[in-house]
Amino acid sequence: MSKTLVQDVKKKFIETFKTDPLLIFSPGRINIIGEHTDYNDGFVFPAAVDKGIAAAIQKSDSGSCTAIALDLDSTIEFDLDKLKPSKEGSWENYVFGVVAEIQNRNKIVGDFNIIFKGNIPGGAGMSSSAALENSVVFGLNELFDLGLSKQEMILISQKAEHNYVGVNCGIMDQYASMFGVKHTALHLDCRTVESKPYTIDFKDYELMLINTNVKHSLSDSAYNDRRSACESISELLGIKALRDATEADLEAIIDKVTPANYQKALYVIQENARTIKAAQAIDNNDLETLGQLIYQSHNGLSNQYKVSCDELDFLVEQAKKNKHVLGARMMGGGFGGCTINLVAKKEAKTFSEIAAKAYKNKFGKECSVYFIELSQGTHIVK
Ligand code: GLA
Repeated sequence: MSKTLVQDVKKKFIETFKTDPLLIFSPGRINIIGEHTDYNDGFVFPAAVDKGIAAAIQKSDSGSCTAIALDLDSTIEFDLDKLKPSKEGSWENYVFGVVAEIQNRNKIVGDFNIIFKGNIPGGAGMSSSAALENSVVFGLNELFDLGLSKQEMILISQKAEHNYVGVNCGIMDQYASMFGVKHTALHLDCRTVESKPYTIDFKDYELMLINTNVKHSLSDSAYNDRRSACESISELLGIKALRDATEADLEAIIDKVTPANYQKALYVIQENARTIKAAQAIDNNDLETLGQLIYQSHNGLSNQYKVSCDELDFLVEQAKKNKHVLGARMMGGGFGGCTINLVAKKEAKTFSEIAAKAYKNKFGKECSVYFIELSQGTHIVK
């Protein structure tokens, strides 16, 4: 958690609203493996990180609500009985969406003020949006005694994303951000929404992120298209979700689907199997196998699921050239954001410098390197 972020929102809140706020920290996440499997009821392997959103929140007696995005220096006033989505891409949709979804559950939220600030760069694929949604729902639950469980809160955050932001996301990001545990990754079954914790100590190795600092447009619509393709194939197979399919099941309907969609469904089935194998590899302290699975995941995301981009593929190629990197792949929804790299601790800095230089030469822009700590989920800061 970043103490400076929390101090910044607290100070601004007291200056602006002349009262002490409740302070919340809500983290972003990484994902070791299991990409685009969550909305197929499959397995994922995320962890909350030490970067995220700090929010200061308190009841308001002014007759309306105010939300301030401190990073953007943007303020919005709104009334709780007139909520509707703002134009696409507006940050306030995350706040409005959460409030509206709480109201849909017949819970009463009173007027409130909120100020938030984050240190996850937008588009990094580290779920700044889930962090924000969770901070809002967590704060409101506390302020207005809504009696929501964490499970209910993450479903509210997810619905906000579906109905106000327009991305039909799965449950991975909200789950990891809410339920994160220090030094731990969560092997999450997205059907039961229950996870098995894995204490992560990779000994001489560590996880390092490299942000391409690009986010290609159309990523939201491409995401929704992928999800629809998976759902239509499940329907053809007569199953609830692709998690229930085998490669042989898919082979049996090969004539009924386009070659592109066949590859997408095959990717999901294979990625789900890889995510289960990755947990076994960690159990066995077999980092070589884990690394191979991570490389295979990228290959599938790029060539079968088609959610990578030149910048991500380039960084993964850089990793493959370096024998100290056991595995690398794009992370998150795709079309930009970060790669996650499993790299020898003593070589991590050198690798990141070589990769950054090559990236600059190739694309004429900088990438950013993050060393992350696996951290606690959404919580109140005393
Ligand atoms: C985004 C979504 C998640 C998940 C990933 C891909 O982060 O919000 O639900 O689908 O993409 O694994």
